[in-house]
Amino acid sequence: MTKTEKEPVAGLAALPGFPLVLVTVKQNILTAAAFSFFSFQPTPAVMVGIRPATYTFELLQHAKDFGINIPTPDQLDIVRWVGSVSGREEEKFNREEPTPMEGAVIESVLIQECPVNLECKLVHQVQYTGSHHWFIGNIVAVHVDEEYQRDDAIMYWFGEYRRVGEIFYKGR
Ligand SMILES: Cc1cc2nc3c(=O)[nH]c(=O)nc-3n(C[C@H](O)[C@H](O)[C@H](O)COP(=O)(O)O)c2cc1C
Repeated sequence: MTKTEKEPVAGLAALPGFPLVLVTVKQNILTAAAFSFFSFQPTPAVMVGIRPATYTFELLQHAKDFGINIPTPDQLDIVRWVGSVSGREEEKFNREEPTPMEGAVIESVLIQECPVNLECKLVHQVQYTGSHHWFIGNIVAVHVDEEYQRDDAIMYWFGEYRRVGEIFYKGR
């Protein structure tokens, strides 16, 4: 093994990828790879990193909740489109797809075509002036298609969309 010292950003580039999600806030959608599990206890929680320039960020300043929708590789066109157009310029539910779906608990809309929808109550916004501001949400309701498997999700990082991949060991 021959290691070379690199710039700090190379440390981020070396990471394998993050689950790609569609974040719904009120009636808008944003594609996000800056997404992670946050906590199991006292309640299951997730966090998502949003850039302040986005319409989603603006909406989150007044929203009580958000949706996390898991897309599949065959939804790449939707993923790329909602991740390149701002809700300030275009209503993203105006096309045939994606289709809005009402949540059981939250006010923000969900996406019908995504096999998994997490309804999240916004509980914290991390005060940090970096490129992404992190929003933490408690999962208050979940909808999962019976045929969904984790392999059906997409991983993304630094311009690469990946399928989830093989399990090479089960256990801890
Ligand atoms: C693959 C992919 C991943 C992205 N990840 C993020 C992200 O993690 N955070 C973010 O703020 N924007 C991310 N974006 C960009 C937003 O989705 C994009 O700026 C979107 O148009 C913002 O929409 P809005 O202005 O309606 O909120 C990503 C885009 C793509 C295509």
